Amino acid sequence: MLDRLNHVAIAVPDLDAATATYRDTLGAAVSAPQVLPEHGVTVVFVDVGNTKIELLEPLGQDSPIAAFLGKNPSGGMHHVCYEVDDILVARDRLKAAGARVLGDGEPKIGAHGKPVLFLHPKDFSGTLVELEQR
Ligand code: CO
Repeated sequence: MLDRLNHVAIAVPDLDAATATYRDTLGAAVSAPQVLPEHGVTVVFVDVGNTKIELLEPLGQDSPIAAFLGKNPSGGMHHVCYEVDDILVARDRLKAAGARVLGDGEPKIGAHGKPVLFLHPKDFSGTLVELEQR
């Protein structure tokens, strides 16, 4: 069911500072920031060749990233994103296997303009998993 690793996401308290670190210190290509109000985040993507790193900064009062940064003030790994062929088929199969889908269980459009879903970290070794339709 899983295809490629699309990205690893890191929550950061200061997106400009994190962008500068990846661009200037690590010498990576970093995208322009994208504001995603529906997800409560502002993101940039770092191109590392075989995959991407998504840097996430909280956006708004109810951002799901704010609580994470409360526990991890200097930032930290937030989720991994795997590509799937058909997100509804993947969701139904996972639900049938007992996995919990976050939110209302319906895909939202993610940062790449494609449908995404998040799976409960307690069902996946303590790691929040994002699925993105290819
Ligand atoms: Co992501």
